[in-house]
Amino acid sequence: MSGELSPIDKAKFVAAKRAADFVEDGMRVGLGTGSTAAWLVRCLGEMIREQGLRFKGVPTSARTAQLAREVGIEVVSLDDARWLDLTIDGADEFDGDLNLIKGGGGALLQEKIVATASDQMVVIADIGKEVETLGAFPLPVEVIPFGWRTTQALIEETLISMDVLGRSSTLRMNGSAPFVTDEGNHILDLHLNRIGNLRQLALVLNQMPGVVENGLFIDICDTVIIGFGDGRVELRDINEGTIEHDRLDFVESDNLFTDLAE
Ligand code: 5RP
Repeated sequence: MSGELSPIDKAKFVAAKRAADFVEDGMRVGLGTGSTAAWLVRCLGEMIREQGLRFKGVPTSARTAQLAREVGIEVVSLDDARWLDLTIDGADEFDGDLNLIKGGGGALLQEKIVATASDQMVVIADIGKEVETLGAFPLPVEVIPFGWRTTQALIEETLISMDVLGRSSTLRMNGSAPFVTDEGNHILDLHLNRIGNLRQLALVLNQMPGVVENGLFIDICDTVIIGFGDGRVELRDINEGTIEHDRLDFVESDNLFTDLAE
């Protein structure tokens, strides 16, 4: 069954499966968005069915909310939960300090609010997401639709004085129409190639009128669980300074693989 999965999907799956062990009875858990987070949600659904795990999940997007309900997770809003024990989410890039670029799936705003409202953030990723310096992945910036072209021009102008290698940007599209986030906004993807000063860029972007939030997650992630296509996982804890290694078997015990292949 696992033979149907690409090495990257296997890597995402094992990272997600290992991260699911962080969830304990009674917790309030932020549920990320994206293909790796979808594996996590399915793993948690399996633990609910097979082990009787009970927790409340706060999704970071409408699509995660839908999947979470489908697999039997008790979904609550962040306003109901207020504060979370744990958030588990994917990332588009992470560096050695566990700073992240997120928002490839367009959910960065809710993802950042939820992760920031959590005691612990665990990122799950395949090894291909690790970089020395953030910025090869275009940085998503959520902007309000009103005057987005003006906001884009202002951002590009400002990037001239930032420590970045590129300063072009593109409006994210969904087919022939602009992509619309769950909050009704648009996304500008900044093609920076390399970001030399993360904090400065994040601060400057968020000060601009029209910018809602940027996809840089600085000092938010505590642990990264890196998956490999052969079943190995590596857990790096930035607070403890520890690195652990583990290996997970692909077990044909459930519908997870077949469900996702469909
Ligand atoms: C969504 C995100 C995702 O976590 C990020 O894009 C990674 O996605 P995937 O797990 O599909 O590679 O930030 O906004």
